[in-house]
Amino acid sequence: MNARIIVLPGDGIGPEVTSSAVAVLEETARRHGHNFSFESCPIGGAALAEGDAALPAATLAAARSADAVLLGAIGDPRFDHLPPGERPESALLGLRRALGLFANVRPARAWAGLEAIGPLRPEVLAGTDLVVVRELTGGLYYGEPRGIDRDGASAVNTMRYTRDEVTRIARVAFELARTRRRHVTSVDKANVLEVSRLWRSVVTDVGAAYPDVRLSHEYVDAAAMKLVLAPASFDVVLTGNLFGDILSDEAGAVAGSLGLLPSASLSTSRPGMFEPVHGSAPDLSGRDVANPVGAMASAAMLLGDGLGLHAEAAAVTAAIETAMRSGLRTVDIAGPGDQVVGTRAFTAAVVGALGT
Ligand code: IPM
Ligand code: MG
Repeated sequence: MNARIIVLPGDGIGPEVTSSAVAVLEETARRHGHNFSFESCPIGGAALAEGDAALPAATLAAARSADAVLLGAIGDPRFDHLPPGERPESALLGLRRALGLFANVRPARAWAGLEAIGPLRPEVLAGTDLVVVRELTGGLYYGEPRGIDRDGASAVNTMRYTRDEVTRIARVAFELARTRRRHVTSVDKANVLEVSRLWRSVVTDVGAAYPDVRLSHEYVDAAAMKLVLAPASFDVVLTGNLFGDILSDEAGAVAGSLGLLPSASLSTSRPGMFEPVHGSAPDLSGRDVANPVGAMASAAMLLGDGLGLHAEAAAVTAAIETAMRSGLRTVDIAGPGDQVVGTRAFTAAVVGALGT
C-alpha cells in the first residue's frame, strides 16, 4: 500500500513521542512491503513560535490531502495569555472541524503487569477494557453564541447538539459494540440539560436498530463515580464532547497512566487523525522520559482504523505488549523492581519486537 502520512509533532513531548510512532510505522512498512511517506508540518505553539497561526494554512492543506494524520500533542504555556481562538489548542479544534472528525475513539484497558501502579486496587481494575466514543465536532466546544462580554462581567458558551450529530456518533458506538461485548453506556446529564434529553432520546432511537447491543444510560456524575468504583462494568462509553474529554482523562488514570492511551479521530472518509490522549506535558519535554506507548498505540490505530491494515495494527499492539512483558517501563508506569528506561530505549524495544 502507498500511504501519505502527515506528521504534526506539535508541542512539549509531542515531537519525542511522535518520532516513536513514526519509527514503528517505518518498521511496519519495511516488514510488510508498504510504502509510507511522512511529511512533518508545524502546528500549535510550535507554529506560533515561528510567527505563524496555530494552524497554518499549509498544515491544514497538507492534512486534508493526506491518507492519515499523526499528531503528537498541543499546548504551550508560553501562549497561555492568548484568547481561546488563537491559542495552540485552537489548532486542534480547527483541524477536527475542518476534517470533519466527529468520532473520537479512546480505548482504555488494564494492562497485564501494571496492576500495581495505578490508583485502583488490582481487584477493582481487573478486567477493565473499555472504549470512550466521544463526539468531537459539536457540543459545548463549538456551540454559538460564545464569548466574553465587552466589560468582562460575564461569558457564555453554548451546548448544542442536533439530532443528526447524535445519530451518527451513536451509530459509531453501536457498531463498535458489535465487535466487542455488545454493551453501550450513553452518558449525559438528562436530569438537568435539554441537550441531554435530546441526546438520550436519539441514542435510544438508534439503539432500537441494534437489538443485539445492550444500552444503558448514566448521568455523567454517576458515570464518573462508576468509572473508578467499577471500571470493568463498561464496554463502550458513548458521550458528548465535553463529558468525553473529562471521562477519557479519568479512564486513562484508571488504566494506570494517561501516557498509555491512544486515540483515533474519524470522519466518514480519510484522513483520520491519530494521537495519544495525553497532553504536551512541557515539564517532561526534551528529557527522554515521556511514555511513547500512547503514541505507538495510536500508530496501531492509524494502521487499522485509518488504513485498514488490521494485521499490521495487531502486530504493533503485540510488539508493545512484548516490550512491556520484558519488564521495561518508562518512569510514569514503573513499579518497584521494574527496569526504568527512557522514551528512546522503550521505542527501540518495540521496534525490535516487531521483527519477532
Ligand atoms: C483532548 C484535549 C483537547 C480537548 C484540548 C487540548 C483542546 O484535552 O484531546 O482531550 O479538550 O479536546
Ligand atoms: Mg482532554
